[in-house]
Amino acid sequence: MRRESEIVAPSGGDIIAPMRQDLDRILIDRDRIRTRVEEIGREITATYSDDLGGLVIVPVLAGSIIFVADLIRTLPFKMKISVMTVSRYRGATTTGGATQFLQDLSHDIRDRHVLIVDDILDSGTTLRMVTAQLQERLPASLRTCVLLRKTAKAPKDLTADFVGFDIEDSFVVGYGLDYDGHYRNLPDIAVLRPELYE
Ligand code: IMP
Ligand code: MG
Repeated sequence: MRRESEIVAPSGGDIIAPMRQDLDRILIDRDRIRTRVEEIGREITATYSDDLGGLVIVPVLAGSIIFVADLIRTLPFKMKISVMTVSRYRGATTTGGATQFLQDLSHDIRDRHVLIVDDILDSGTTLRMVTAQLQERLPASLRTCVLLRKTAKAPKDLTADFVGFDIEDSFVVGYGLDYDGHYRNLPDIAVLRPELYE
């Protein structure tokens, strides 16, 4: 755990205090996240250097909100955002629940360069479904970016073009990731105490 003095919110309150008893430990702190997000931003910028101007970023909501907000502010070119909302876990941390599309894109992506941004690649079901859906709409190119990848379960035949961190097979929260809707506002990525969902 970080020291108390390091986790005071700009408003003055300790931002982790109301959640601390639910966390096992901080897995990736905000400084490491910021450094890596800037690196991914440079990788993306280099990749699209010949296609600047036409990029459509598709954040998969709600888990990617914080990541995508930080990421796009490292990208020095014009782009559009078109969100897609899917639901996977609906409260439980176990896999197996079907991925549901709750809200579709607001833009036509035909002939556009498209970058899907999701929070975490776990079993791969979500990314596979979203990718298949968007591929049908004939984008000029389609790439994927995830902040986290659980190496234990991520399928061999499905990978993301940009990956922030490879992590262990624990349920994590914070920096946009939730458990039952909570913990998204935690500035770090933390392992949730297993007894909360077991
Ligand atoms: P997949 O379809 O099994 O790859 O699961 C991906 C989705 O499940 C992600 O977009 C997350 O919303 C959610 N998810 C998977 N693992 C975690 C986790 O450790 N914490 C929070 N959400 C998770
Ligand atoms: Mg998600």
